[in-house]
Amino acid sequence: MLHPRTIKGHSIIESQQFADPGVLEEFVDRTEFYEPFCARRERLGMLSGKRGGLVFYEPSTRTRWSFEAAIVNLGGDFSNTENAEAFSSAAKGERLEHSVRVLSAYVNFIILRHSDDNAAQVAQVAHDYLQSLGRATPIINAGCGKGQHPTQALIDWWTIRKQLGRTSDLRICIVGDLARGRTVRSLAYLMGRQRGVAMDFVSPPELAMGEDILEYLQRHGISYSQGSSIDGLLEQADVVYMTRAQTERPHGSNLSQVDKSGYRLTLKRARAMKKGAILMHPMPINDEIEAEVDQLPQAVYFNQSDNGVPVRMALLDMMLCS
Ligand code: NCD
Repeated sequence: MLHPRTIKGHSIIESQQFADPGVLEEFVDRTEFYEPFCARRERLGMLSGKRGGLVFYEPSTRTRWSFEAAIVNLGGDFSNTENAEAFSSAAKGERLEHSVRVLSAYVNFIILRHSDDNAAQVAQVAHDYLQSLGRATPIINAGCGKGQHPTQALIDWWTIRKQLGRTSDLRICIVGDLARGRTVRSLAYLMGRQRGVAMDFVSPPELAMGEDILEYLQRHGISYSQGSSIDGLLEQADVVYMTRAQTERPHGSNLSQVDKSGYRLTLKRARAMKKGAILMHPMPINDEIEAEVDQLPQAVYFNQSDNGVPVRMALLDMMLCS
C-alpha cells in the first residue's frame, strides 16, 4: 500500500504509514508540544466540537483509557462501546460494516479494536467500506486480531526515543509470542525503517515471527536473528521488548502451554542486561517478567504506558486538526 506523506484526514491502519521521516518529524513536534499539557492534565480545545466513537470488540485497559484521556484533553468528546461483542448490535448479528456506517453519521472519527484474523485487517475493511460510500470518517486501528496495532508502535518508538535519545543504531531483542502478538508486528515494521537497527527475535519455535515481517526486513536490509533463548542476547540489546502469550487467540498448533523457560525475564536475567539498556512491554504483563523486575531502573513499561496519552493526543491532532 502506498502511503501519503501526511496522516491528515486519513485512517490509521498500519505502522508503515509512519515510516516517512516527514510524518515522524511532525509526530515528534506534536508529542513534544502536548507532553507538558498532558503532565499538568490541562484541557485544550483542539478537538472542541468533535466526537470520537470507540468501538472495542476486545478487552482493553491502556488503549481505550489513553484514547479517551487524549480526546478529553483536547476538548473533544466521545461515545464508547467497551464490550462491543456483547453490548452493541453485534450481539444481534449486525455486520461490522453496518455498525460503522451507522456510527459514521454520529461521530467525526472511529477508534476500532477487533479480534478478527481475516486476511485484511478489520480496520481496513471498515475504512474501505466507508470510502466506498463516500464517507470521510477516519478509522483508527486500535489493535486488530493478529494483524497490527499501529498506535502502540508509535508509543513504543516514542518511548525508545525518550529513553535512549535515538531510534536508530540500536539492537532490539523482541521476545515472546511473536506469531500472535500484533504490537511486535507493528513495531518491527516501524523500527525496520530506522537506520542501523538490528533485531533479535526470541520465541518458542511454534510462535515465531511471521514470514511477511521477515520478508519485509530482508527487503529493507535489516539484519535479524531468530532463536528460542534470550541468554547471550540480553547482554547486547539496547532494547528488550517482552510480550505475553496471547492464549485467547487461536493458533494452528495445539498449544496448551507455552514454554517460556528460554526467555522468562527473571531478576537474574534482567540484571544481565547491558548498562543503559531498557526493558519494554506493551502490557498486560503475565508471568513472562518476574514481579521484582518492576523495581529495576531498566524497566520502563510504566513510562511506556504513560506515553500513551501525549502520543495519542499528537496523533489525533495530526489527523483531525488543521
Ligand atoms: C496489547 C494488545 O492489545 O495488542 N495491549 C495494548 O494495547 N497495549 C498487547 C496484548 O494484549 O498483549
